[in-house]
Amino acid sequence: MRIAVLTGGGDAAGLNAAIRSVGRHALRGGDEVVGVLNGWAGLLGDGDTRPLDEAALLGALRLGGTLLGSSRTNPLRIDDGIAQVEAAMAAHRIDALVAIGGDDTLSVAARLAERGAHVVGIPKTVDFDLAVTEYCIGFDSAVAIVAESLDRLHTTAASHHRVMVCEVMGRDTGWLAVMGGIAGGADLCLIPEFPLHLDEIVARIAARDAQGKTSSIIVVAEGAQIAGLTAEAGGPADAFGHQNLARRALGERLADAIESANGHESRATVLGHVQRGGSPVATDRIWPSRLGMAAVDAIRADTTGVAAAVVANAEQLVPLGDLVAEQKRVPAPIYQVFEALS
Ligand code: F6P
Repeated sequence: MRIAVLTGGGDAAGLNAAIRSVGRHALRGGDEVVGVLNGWAGLLGDGDTRPLDEAALLGALRLGGTLLGSSRTNPLRIDDGIAQVEAAMAAHRIDALVAIGGDDTLSVAARLAERGAHVVGIPKTVDFDLAVTEYCIGFDSAVAIVAESLDRLHTTAASHHRVMVCEVMGRDTGWLAVMGGIAGGADLCLIPEFPLHLDEIVARIAARDAQGKTSSIIVVAEGAQIAGLTAEAGGPADAFGHQNLARRALGERLADAIESANGHESRATVLGHVQRGGSPVATDRIWPSRLGMAAVDAIRADTTGVAAAVVANAEQLVPLGDLVAEQKRVPAPIYQVFEALS
């Protein structure tokens, strides 16, 4: 069998571990492996693939990014896009495809499978907003970066007696902010799921000031809505209709608003793509290794339209549609852990 693998959407630490696992497991079982370059863009038109052999996968485990490249190209938004993907798969003699990505990439994979292609997914997103699966490639590494960044902000905040606002990724959900905030001991966490009015934020900082706490750390998800605060418009939408939320300058606006409301000197830090770069933590090597093998096993069992996900702390095949049916949002008990300990 000739098995292809692609990575779509934003990159994340651990993608190469998954590619290596798919590649090695398939090759060692006697299958041929090709990499699709730059996400779905590599299956449009003539297609763009390259053979993956043992040499190509050497050293991939610990590398950040994706050795295949990625893009936010959406075949569902292109005339004949899905037909082009099917034609490119045929032209490149691809019998089965492993698509590694988040809701956008997996939605395209689900459509392909519905139309009869042999497709298996693997969940990846630093936003951690896919339903059902307990694990998404890249999230744990990103949380570790947020936590370390907050540690560093604590010391400079304390030295200068400042409020430090740390803006993190999270388009529609606040997983990175709340988990990073718990791990890094932030004092206030602003996420889409539990909105706070600007007046409440200013009041909480004032209360800390009154208690003699001269510095504060606020972690804010880029997609949070803060009533009473005017944020910039987001940047232009990508092929999946998502705006570039970093352009809202939410963190910067919030720091300014706090400083003008209560006079407490404030600074903003935007972690941005630092959260997606660099080497994966151990869990973002171990789970991708396990899920890559599970995906190849699913293909060999002739299963299609599923993702190799983590359920009850074990590999499980889940219908692709279930992962993207709804967004997993931060539940109250997790937010309460943050609130109780901050
Ligand atoms: O893929 C999700 C994500 O990391 C979001 O949290 C963020 O808003 C977006 O990607 C940034 O995307 P880009 O790399 O296209 O700027």
